[in-house]
Amino acid sequence: MFKCFYNKFAAWYLVVVLLLCLFTVNGYTQQPEANYDETRIPAYTLPDPLVLQSGKLVTGEPQWWKERRPEILSLFEMEMYGRAPSTATYLGFSVATQDTNALNGKAIRKEITVHFTKDKQGASMSVLLYLPKLNTPVPVFLGLNFRGNHTIIDDPGISVSAHWKAAEHRRGEDSLSWPVERIIENGYGLATVYYGDIDPDFDDGFLNGIHPLFFREGQTKPDPDEWGSIGAWAWGLSRALDYLVTDGAVDARRVVVIGHSRLGKAALWAGAQDQRFAVVISNNSGCGGAALSKRAFGETVGSINTAFPHWFCMNFRKFNNNEAALPMDQHMLIALIAPRPVYVASAEEDRWADPKGEFLSLLYASPVYSLLGKHGLSVKEMPALNEKVMGTVGYHIRPGRHAITLFDWERYIEFADLHLH
Ligand code: GCU
Repeated sequence: MFKCFYNKFAAWYLVVVLLLCLFTVNGYTQQPEANYDETRIPAYTLPDPLVLQSGKLVTGEPQWWKERRPEILSLFEMEMYGRAPSTATYLGFSVATQDTNALNGKAIRKEITVHFTKDKQGASMSVLLYLPKLNTPVPVFLGLNFRGNHTIIDDPGISVSAHWKAAEHRRGEDSLSWPVERIIENGYGLATVYYGDIDPDFDDGFLNGIHPLFFREGQTKPDPDEWGSIGAWAWGLSRALDYLVTDGAVDARRVVVIGHSRLGKAALWAGAQDQRFAVVISNNSGCGGAALSKRAFGETVGSINTAFPHWFCMNFRKFNNNEAALPMDQHMLIALIAPRPVYVASAEEDRWADPKGEFLSLLYASPVYSLLGKHGLSVKEMPALNEKVMGTVGYHIRPGRHAITLFDWERYIEFADLHLH
């Protein structure tokens, strides 16, 4: 009996020790519990987007474009998302499928393979494009999807990506996040790419995905200031736009880049870097997206870098549990989008993403909109649930959880109508 007790004890002891090792290796033990209490937010000072690093105030629009904007862009590149190659080493487009009678005759559906290597068997991503049947080039919503192009709508004509986990998902599985027909009926096209085509979302040391294509000879992983996965996804959005520019049915001057959650972070970073995007929309993007890092409310820099070590560049880890040292914050990411229209949306129950921090980024980016001749956020306090704030800068918070819903899309279509029609 004693032996049995002893064995059981030893087994449990081993399990506990193993679990502890695992958590310590991942750094979880070092992460303080998430704070959801406004009164426990650390005192913080936000860098002023209109003060140069030299301490001088930006005097006018030319100085913004020539000095301050490049300074801010470089901070996000060097310290957070990492530098990305500005273009592809090779870029080829081939229309893989086309159906002029999709959605019961209401739309045209195309699939375009974007090749990143001359060798057609090499790295590539597939752009799924739905277009309304109109006689003029149409504005388009462009966003990455989480589970594969075939999951956004139950349409047997959509190919299933061979990349990463796409084949594990059902057709139409994520259709609640993608009201395709509603978008088409409103005169917009919809373009989407499976994010796993660009870079599978796990920490594999950057062996798969597009990073290795750009390694120098002998390089085995990105340098500390080179792109992580969010940088790669944002880069993929710009390469999808490179294709849209060539498609005569699309008005590439009216492309809205949109994303939910981690893909909302990617949409913001794409919109900040690539000024060809006419409108930028972030849905529940939270930490590393629209939410201010220095509030350390909900998800923090330390927790995101620990749970997702591949998302940002290595330099970003300097700010784990040390947000005060950040030379920038997410309001400056929004400022990089100015004077173009930007919309941020939150969900009440999505406290992990810090709704208030998402709202405040818009507010504190607003002086840059004013400098560039536009109105920033028209309110100073968070609006009531379901109330929308529209203008060059848009915002809403709806009841419910972390998701992109029809309610959100209806606001985004309205926002796009306001600016693009
Ligand atoms: C996690 C992560 C968030 C991210 C979200 C998502 O919750 O911590 O930062 O936005 O996943 O992408 O769904």
